[in-house]
Amino acid sequence: MAKTIPNLTSTIFTSFFFSLLIATKSQEFSRNLSQKKLGLKKEKLSHLHFYFHDTLSGKNPTAVRVAKAPITKISPTLFGVVVVMDDPLTLKPEPSSKQVGRAQGIYASASQTEFGLLMAMNFAFTEGKYNGSSLSILGRNTVFSTVRELPVVGGSGLFRFARGYAHAKTHSLNFTSADAVVEYNVYVFHY
Ligand SMILES: *[C@@H]1O[C@H](CO)[C@@H](O)[C@H](O)[C@H]1NC(C)=O
Ligand SMILES: *[C@@H]1O[C@H](CO)[C@@H](O)[C@H](O)[C@H]1NC(C)=O
Ligand SMILES: *[C@@H]1O[C@H](CO)[C@@H](O)[C@H](O)[C@H]1NC(C)=O
Repeated sequence: MAKTIPNLTSTIFTSFFFSLLIATKSQEFSRNLSQKKLGLKKEKLSHLHFYFHDTLSGKNPTAVRVAKAPITKISPTLFGVVVVMDDPLTLKPEPSSKQVGRAQGIYASASQTEFGLLMAMNFAFTEGKYNGSSLSILGRNTVFSTVRELPVVGGSGLFRFARGYAHAKTHSLNFTSADAVVEYNVYVFHY
């Protein structure tokens, strides 16, 4: 009788040890996964068109300057200035037209020889099936060029695995206030 007790104990211990091994195996650092398992069907190409409203002036600005360098005010390109924005995106150029999302992020003057911004922002969409999905943009914006191209570096929701580019074209610019309306055409591959 006395002999069976340690046997039972070792059986329990062994099975516990094995289950631990199996558990460890299912938590591997990396594994191969089929696209289907992740719900990814066919890759598609979408074109999005909207207007971006960057308002620095007035009582309710959507873009605010948060930092500058000592030389910013004497720099012809405002080198060193950093702005945070939460700008509405609309279907038409008029600010009152239907809102489809917001452009949230930062831009900074990163060129000493021309007006060249570094832009790091998310387009957070609220329209239709795109509500809750976002695109991430990281690019160079030479604001006085007719059309600027900014890479789409990723996305979320319907835009998972997104890649593509955005063309930005100034629709209107107030040289006094720097308020601007910019037309965006975004071409993006996603699933
Ligand atoms: C994943 O797939 C690659 C390429 O087919 C293969 O070389 C690799 O061994 C696979 N890895 C695992 C964990 O199955
Ligand atoms: C977008 O989704 C949010 C959260 O689910 C919801 O509150 C909002 O009404 C939706 N907006 C539109 C325009 O469908
Ligand atoms: C440009 O901005 C200035 C300063 O905010 C404002 O007084 C002026 O009315 C604006 N011009 C136009 C055409 O909106």
